[in-house]
Amino acid sequence: MMDQAQKLRQIIDNLKVRDAVALDNPVGVKEKNAKVITVTSGKGGVGKTNFTINLAIALSELGQRVTILDADFGLANVDILLGIVPKYTLVDVLYNRRNILEALTDGPKNIKFMSGGSGVEELVKLDGTQLEKFVNNISLLDKLSDVILIDTGAGLSDSVMSFVMAADEVFLVTTPEPTSITDAYALIKMVSNRDNNKIIKVVVNRAENANEAKDILNRLSIVAEKFLAMKLYPLGFVPQDESVIKAVKMQQPFSLSFPKSDAAKQIKEISRRLMEGNADITNRQESGIKGFVRRLVNLMNA
Ligand SMILES: Nc1ncnc2c1ncn2[C@@H]1O[C@H](COP(=O)(O)OP(=O)(O)OP(=O)(O)O)[C@@H](O)[C@H]1O
Ligand SMILES: [Mg+2]
Repeated sequence: MMDQAQKLRQIIDNLKVRDAVALDNPVGVKEKNAKVITVTSGKGGVGKTNFTINLAIALSELGQRVTILDADFGLANVDILLGIVPKYTLVDVLYNRRNILEALTDGPKNIKFMSGGSGVEELVKLDGTQLEKFVNNISLLDKLSDVILIDTGAGLSDSVMSFVMAADEVFLVTTPEPTSITDAYALIKMVSNRDNNKIIKVVVNRAENANEAKDILNRLSIVAEKFLAMKLYPLGFVPQDESVIKAVKMQQPFSLSFPKSDAAKQIKEISRRLMEGNADITNRQESGIKGFVRRLVNLMNA
């Protein structure tokens, strides 16, 4: 049963979609596209998928329309952590078996997600015409979302680098472990070799406390600036929290099962920070998912 607030919300969401479609006119008015953010890490298993899902929920609660694209080709993480099995994946869209809407699965709190499956690797096999058709299909995501969060596997492979370089922004997750920090730095270095102006926002996950996180963010920013001429943007931290582990076992997002947990509080804090100020995720004209996919395919073919 939907309560009053949810119904109102849905009506407003539908209006937004209609508005966006109405804006898509032949007179050349610039439409607002989704911001495409790649979530990655140097080392694997640092908490990317948990961060992505719970941040998506927090942003959604602040009124953002959020879509998660699961681009972890090895293991489909997002659906497991949500406890939802999607009917179709990106592959079905690529081969015109299903349209984008059919491949979008509803998650909690109005978030949507799409499983990449093996579709990401198949992208490079499309010829020019097929690719253009796909790009046009997937551009519907720009109208349905304000933010697209792409959950990737650990970051030092070529394919993940392509996702990183093609995105409007990168959220880099690290833990306080020296190995994780070292690999995060290695990733920043790889990015800096390709584009010194890439926006990388760093999150420390599993931190013991705020001070530990602050210290890591500071030190990482200083070395990146000094040795790589890269400016990093500290995004915040998520504490080490038993609630996360419990929620994973329940296949539920921790911010829903344990909304009062310290981890959930920090995720909310991060989502608020993202919505504030100039570095926010709402007020910029982006090239959207269309531009992203074109850049991605170019990078993967390079
Ligand atoms: N803040 C946290 N507090 C406690 N445990 C955590 C926290 N974040 C993550 N974990 C633990 O780490 C595990 C891995 O998290 P997650 O699957 O989100 O990592 P990942 O970076 O997406 O991994 P992969 O690189 O394999 O995709 C979780 O199952 C959980 O047990
Ligand atoms: Mg993952």
